[in-house]
Amino acid sequence: MIKNVGIIGGGTMGSGIAQVAATAGCMVTLYDVHQGALDTAKANLEKITNRLVDKARISPQEKDAIQNNIRYVNTIKELANSDLTIEAIVENMEVKKKLFQELENHVSDACIIATNTSSLSIASIASSLKKPNRCIGIHFFNPAPLMKLVEVIPAIQTSQKVLASVQITLENWKKVVAVAKDTPGFIVNRVARPFYGEALRMYEEGVADFATIDHALKSVGGFKMGPFELMDFIGNDVNYTVTHTVFEAFYNDSRYKPSFTQKRFAEAGFLGRKSGKGFYDYAPGAVKPLPETNQKLLHTIFDRILVMLINEAADALFLNIASAQDIDAAMTTGVNYPKGLLAWADEKGIPWCVKKLDGLYNEYHEPRYRCSPLLRRMDATNKTFF
Ligand code: NAI
Repeated sequence: MIKNVGIIGGGTMGSGIAQVAATAGCMVTLYDVHQGALDTAKANLEKITNRLVDKARISPQEKDAIQNNIRYVNTIKELANSDLTIEAIVENMEVKKKLFQELENHVSDACIIATNTSSLSIASIASSLKKPNRCIGIHFFNPAPLMKLVEVIPAIQTSQKVLASVQITLENWKKVVAVAKDTPGFIVNRVARPFYGEALRMYEEGVADFATIDHALKSVGGFKMGPFELMDFIGNDVNYTVTHTVFEAFYNDSRYKPSFTQKRFAEAGFLGRKSGKGFYDYAPGAVKPLPETNQKLLHTIFDRILVMLINEAADALFLNIASAQDIDAAMTTGVNYPKGLLAWADEKGIPWCVKKLDGLYNEYHEPRYRCSPLLRRMDATNKTFF
């Protein structure tokens, strides 16, 4: 039973995870090397929980309990009695390994040591420990208290007992758990790549402008945001870096190739909302361009992005990255897709998916459009995902 939780790093993710664990009744120790980060985390938590009381989402007593469940500390030895620690410091392998080695000197042998990394190998981080079987990836999404999904990533060293204990704990924390293989991007950051990549590619080909591509995904597909709106929201620098990291991690598989368009936008400082300009202009009074409304064009755009997403989800299943249920749950609860991609494939029909992908492949002769062998086998045997 996990009761005492140590969180390492009190930035965006660490403070959010602390709130989740404290809300579930755990005793949380939040550790950061910078006192300023701890002060900010504490002030933010007060603001957030006060707002939740104002909105009648929690009672004043619950607010006090959440706040009292978190201790803010600036020495690592204070984590000594943790049953579980979750690290959310800088995304740097060497820094994380050094921290884990030091941490292991302070915690008990039974303590689970987890990392919230988005992109680093869990096996590599685990290898820094004397007991690597206690190490696991617990990947929250931002903002951690609001996003339901948590990807859980056992490394090849991780024990079954540690995996089971983490799954139960996160379910008690009211999270949707998707178990993913220790591979680049885990589930969401891998399967979502074509949402951005294929939209950028169509723009580069001159198929349509940003507003029209966004409109297609929203009006035909029911997505809350179009790809360009979402890239502006995430930040073109951040989104480009994730794509680039995934591309390199997959030994330059052209399926994940980053786009020059996005690179130039990032280089120009057109980062999106945070810089006031990205694919769209966010200056006060700026007028958003109107999309084209030709239905045939909108459906063509949507179908191409959807089938590329389905292909990626099918390939993730084919390569045993996660179960079909977890792949669909990850995309609906981690990035709010209107439907799971495999369920969507069933709805559209597997023959439709194969035909569309083969059409793209025959037109371009590029490996990025290769159809997953799983879809092809399913087509040949009339199977569906669910
Ligand atoms: P952040 O920069 O907001 O916070 C990091 C905190 O760690 C800072 O307060 C810093 O003072 C502290 N820190 C740095 N080195 C430390 C050390 N050696 N010991 C103790 N504290 C230390 O970063 P953020 O965004 O919270 O990300 C943290 C981790 O979570 C990264 O690995 C990131 O890849 C991952 N992540 C981030 C997501 C995001 O959307 N921001 C989403 C999912 C995962």
